[in-house]
Amino acid sequence: MDKPIHANHITISVSNTNRSVSLPLLEGTLGPQVADIRKLHNETGIFTFDPGYGETASCESKITYIDGDAGVLLYRGYPIEQLAEKSTFLEVAYLLLNGELPNEAQFEMFTAHITRHTMLHEQFRRFWEGFRRDAHPMAALCGVVGAMSAFYPESVNISDAHEREVSAYRLIAKIPTITAWAYKYSVGQPFMYPRNDLSYAENFLYMFKAVPTEQYKKNPTLERAMDRILILHADHEQNASTSTVRLAGSTGANPFACIAAGIAALWGPAHGGANEAVLRMLAEIGDKKNIKPFIEEVKDKNSHTKLMGFGHRVYKNYDPRAKILQRTCYEVLGELGIKHEPLLELAMELEKIALEDDYFVSRKLYPNVDFYSGIILKAMGFPTTMFTPLFALARTTGWITQWMEMIEDPQQRIGRPRQLYTGAPRRDYTPINERP
Ligand code: CMC
Repeated sequence: MDKPIHANHITISVSNTNRSVSLPLLEGTLGPQVADIRKLHNETGIFTFDPGYGETASCESKITYIDGDAGVLLYRGYPIEQLAEKSTFLEVAYLLLNGELPNEAQFEMFTAHITRHTMLHEQFRRFWEGFRRDAHPMAALCGVVGAMSAFYPESVNISDAHEREVSAYRLIAKIPTITAWAYKYSVGQPFMYPRNDLSYAENFLYMFKAVPTEQYKKNPTLERAMDRILILHADHEQNASTSTVRLAGSTGANPFACIAAGIAALWGPAHGGANEAVLRMLAEIGDKKNIKPFIEEVKDKNSHTKLMGFGHRVYKNYDPRAKILQRTCYEVLGELGIKHEPLLELAMELEKIALEDDYFVSRKLYPNVDFYSGIILKAMGFPTTMFTPLFALARTTGWITQWMEMIEDPQQRIGRPRQLYTGAPRRDYTPINERP
């Protein structure tokens, strides 16, 4: 990996001591300068304190760039709007993994690699039976993806570039099969084997919707919408689940275990679980007349109620993915002949009221990717519990790309944050009969 340019320095002096340190400021291709604090503790005895890592660059990366103030998202330099309109998910997957868009021969070979790996080991059919039918599909996803390392023991050899590459292909190829089967298992329908004559998105829709007793009908608008949803969710730099994948990977754990850790982190309602929570919230609000009291509840700190699908650690502007999804929502509803979707109307009114309210304006809280995605997915026939698994399906490509970049980074070492200890100072053990 190229060394960032040392443009300037920042000097830190510790008050009441004569200790000071000059730290290099690193410059990326885009974004703010970053103070390199690696010498800070050695030279001053001081650590930094940054709960939630909001001010900390945990790694150097060339994959995804976000300008949160301007509402910009770039994959390998390409704006998300252009990719969502002109590209396909598999092409974006190639771009993320390899850094450049493929030519025709490269794309053909990549597609062949992915389609070759779409089937799951036949033993997985029985593996599912260990889960309850009503288990949340994210629980099944964590388990099944983690278990893949038991089927591909050579994946533990992470220093072998070929093994890393094959693991990446396996994950990207099999995650649609795993996600669709999680659904099929929950409703008691037969698992559908992947069809390599279909596109990545269409194959997933096929495995999710089709049954052996009926002819499957393709729908190009829904295929395009699915593909776009996958593109929009494919990567998002160092978010909680990606950082989890990197942290797990920094120990040398195998890629399937690392992605299972990422899936677990994504499940939470503050992260990937928000799309599911948005629909629950809209259902609870129920009617436009209830929006104002709901907003008042959100603003009341004692209520602990959040406006789900709003706010983001990095975006302090409209999430560019939410804009694209809002448009896609109309396309999907139009295709399905849904003239009035009460949830969409409720969501749009909620957005309008929130964006005029000083609480949200002053905190720069805008709709994020999850605000509209659930409405589209519901219209496409996905049950609410499948929303977060679909996010995981798409993000698997980003996670494995970030994992590969980390393993190949010569600066990489085990992730091991420090702490500000505020517990009891050293004290001696007292026998139980002498304790107050
Ligand atoms: N509703 C109401 N208030 C909010 C919200 C919200 N959705 N989001 C942030 N705030 C308030 C927060 O209470 C705080 O107020 P104050 O300054 O008075 O204490 C202020 O805005 C700053 O928020 P924060 O909690 O410091 O922001 P954060 O960067 O730690 O959290 C977030 C980011 C996404 C977890 C948060 O905005 C949130 O919980 N949103 C709802 C859940 C959601 O939609 N998550 C999906 C995120 S996008 C997809 C993904 O990453 O998976």
